[in-house]
Amino acid sequence: MQDSIVYLNGVMTPLSEARIPVLDRGFIFGDGVYEVIPIYAGKAFRAQHHMARLFRSLAAIDIPNPHNVEEWMSLINKVVAPYAQDDQMVYIHVTRGVAKRAHAFPKGALTPTVFIMTNPLVLPSDAVRAKGVSCVTMEDQRWLHCEIKSISLLGNVLAAQNAAEHGVVEAIQFRDGFLTEASSSNVWIVKDKVLMAPPKNNLILEGIRYGLIEELCAANDLQFIARKIARAEVFEADEVLLSSATKEILPVTVVDGKTIGNGQPGPIYKQLYQAYQGAKAALID
Ligand code: PDD
Repeated sequence: MQDSIVYLNGVMTPLSEARIPVLDRGFIFGDGVYEVIPIYAGKAFRAQHHMARLFRSLAAIDIPNPHNVEEWMSLINKVVAPYAQDDQMVYIHVTRGVAKRAHAFPKGALTPTVFIMTNPLVLPSDAVRAKGVSCVTMEDQRWLHCEIKSISLLGNVLAAQNAAEHGVVEAIQFRDGFLTEASSSNVWIVKDKVLMAPPKNNLILEGIRYGLIEELCAANDLQFIARKIARAEVFEADEVLLSSATKEILPVTVVDGKTIGNGQPGPIYKQLYQAYQGAKAALID
């Protein structure tokens, strides 16, 4: 672990020395939200989109936003500055603050806890990309506000653990027979050259890559449809893809031990991945 200098409540401090009170509502209730932003060569990728999602998440659970966009960006830049040459992932965490333990929001103003750290961004290797990854499926056991990037991640943690115990990279989840998302990534299928993903609603987190991939489809004449996807369609797909800040776009070639398509990363994946690298190079926002 990189013992980086992190930001905590107005102070820059080594990670190993950062402390929060045990009555922080993030610790007690998971009462907070977070963001993960990829940083390429010192520059935040899709920063404005991540900021907009952070603001939506805070508003959704009535945590007053402690900073405007400029202040957030300046804090992020401060944390990232020592690693300007490396790819990093910035983690932003905001909780409702510290109060006597009682479930409902405390009366009176609380000061939100703000924590920002950075870690090396470890992207999937070329060897992994060339082969594609394996996933398992499971029933989505999470709550009904998955659109909020909540730090209450027990459902996601248990899904990720399920994947780990199967020796695969992700658990692809279904609710009532329809695809939602994986434990920490969005899921896409390709059938007859058409890219499809579940609609943006309360059952999935709207990944920042979701919007980017929509833009990349429009710019590259690829057809995209957002619609409910039945379980069988995943197994019958020509391609299955994952997307997230840390996976970028990743091909899935095996689900529950069954081969997807011809078992190789497909042409739509290759086209989108290349377009993604182009967007990174241009650091479009
Ligand atoms: N996870 N869905 C879930 C449940 C996620 O946790 C994530 C991201 C995504 C993809 O979102 P984005 O494209 O903005 O990364 C979808 C981050 C990386 C994490 O929790 O570490």
